[in-house]
Amino acid sequence: MKQNLITPKRSLNKEMEKLLNEQIVMEGKSSASYLSMASWCETKGYNNSSEFLYKHSDEERGHMLKLFKYVNQAGGHAIQPEITEIKHTFKSLREVFEEVLQHEIQVTKSIHDIVDRCLASKDYTTFNFLQWYVVEQREEETMARRALELFDIIGEDGVGLWTIDQEIGKMHNPQDFVPDHR
Ligand SMILES: [Fe+2]
Ligand SMILES: [Fe+2]
Repeated sequence: MKQNLITPKRSLNKEMEKLLNEQIVMEGKSSASYLSMASWCETKGYNNSSEFLYKHSDEERGHMLKLFKYVNQAGGHAIQPEITEIKHTFKSLREVFEEVLQHEIQVTKSIHDIVDRCLASKDYTTFNFLQWYVVEQREEETMARRALELFDIIGEDGVGLWTIDQEIGKMHNPQDFVPDHR
């Protein structure tokens, strides 16, 4: 009788699957937070910031779906995250963008921690996959810092906030994100 061939179903170890599922939660939380910020901005008449954040929320969902596909194709199971503790109101437009920057810094740290684990566990496939996120985080942090600089350069008095909102509307991600999760 012919012996069954050993065909390993997974290339992802359990620890990495867990870490990537935690990253899924983070990207899902980014998407939900930016959606909430977009809505608040819209109610306050900051229409350009609102559009910027709606678009950013979509991009974060794209980041999450990219992880779903990777985890499942590598033999793991991507879990739809429970998203809680989303803030709905903000003191000011500046506070919104301060929170965007803070959040992006946390996401960068999380990605770098997983990259460290990839090297330690010699998971070069996931290491390679995560390089896209490393580049993306550098761009997103730069963009968030640029948005905050506008508040210092332009100032918030008089037509300042209106002008800041206009300038935020002109910002775009250098690598306009096209969701690639098929
Ligand atoms: Fe992201
Ligand atoms: Fe982000």
